[in-house]
Amino acid sequence: MAHNLLQGKKGIIFGALDEHSLAWKTALRCVEEGAQIVLTNAPIALRMGEIKKLAETCNAPVIPADVTNMEDLKNLFTKSMEHFGGKIDFVLHSVGMGMNVRKGRPYTDLDYDFNHKTFDISAMSLHRVLQTAYQVDAINDWGSVVALTYIAAQRVFPDYSEMADAKALLESIARSFGYHYGIRNKVRINTVSQSPTKTTAGSGVKGFDGFMAYAEKMSPLGNATADQCANYCVTLFSDLTRMVTMQNLFHDGGFSFTGVSAAIAEQMEK
Ligand SMILES: NC(=O)c1ccc[n+]([C@@H]2O[C@H](COP(=O)([O-])OP(=O)(O)OC[C@H]3O[C@@H](n4cnc5c(N)ncnc54)[C@H](O)[C@@H]3O)[C@@H](O)[C@H]2O)c1
Repeated sequence: MAHNLLQGKKGIIFGALDEHSLAWKTALRCVEEGAQIVLTNAPIALRMGEIKKLAETCNAPVIPADVTNMEDLKNLFTKSMEHFGGKIDFVLHSVGMGMNVRKGRPYTDLDYDFNHKTFDISAMSLHRVLQTAYQVDAINDWGSVVALTYIAAQRVFPDYSEMADAKALLESIARSFGYHYGIRNKVRINTVSQSPTKTTAGSGVKGFDGFMAYAEKMSPLGNATADQCANYCVTLFSDLTRMVTMQNLFHDGGFSFTGVSAAIAEQMEK
């Protein structure tokens, strides 16, 4: 059900790869709520072609940008403002890549070239995006930026490996930049810490099905789905959450504050 929460708003959505992506679901919900959007992803991801379907449904242009490339990002913000005929109101950063995880290198034997790449794509990219937007003055006053993260930034999930460190940095950048963008333009910046969700990036983590099932049993409300994540992002882009900034917001059915659940305790007694 739509409530016109984003009527008249314009945004950029990073990271829609296929219909499972958190960004894909969020793009659809933003448009349903009245927003106009620009879609972006790495050139290599665009070659897969899936995003064209989303672009048609959302009536949105697709502007390629590798988040590690400053020229690409500058071009993205400039072209987006040309397309909209003015500044934008919201940005979704839904980007991640764990190079060592992908290559099967354990946390105790990291390849540091891969590690740099992981941090650049998954964390520094938020700074790159924000700095580009700040310098070309691309975001309207009271705009909103959301980046997606995971609780491995606060607690150890061994198979999440270097991505845990990347997420800790991502969350810190949201806080630090949130201060500066808040002072200058009242732009708010938050991270949403989402439950494990079956997507291309999510399924790349070893033992993913096991820890998804564990989180489901540990969360009083169960795991939050991708559609529910999209709904939450919509509220954060809307004017109803104007005073929320520099926060890491858990969207996880209560997982983050549960010590143990009856379901897990029962299982341990078996
Ligand atoms: N799936 C989960 O369980 C889960 C849980 C919490 C947080 N998250 C986070 O949500 C975000 C989205 O992930 P997802 O689960 O929807 O998976 P996904 O694989 O659909 O999305 C990841 C996106 O990052 C893009 N990307 C990778 N390298 C890039 C680059 N150099 N430039 C531009 N884009 C690049 C990919 O093309 C892809 O679209 C990630 O930050 C992820 O860590 C996911």
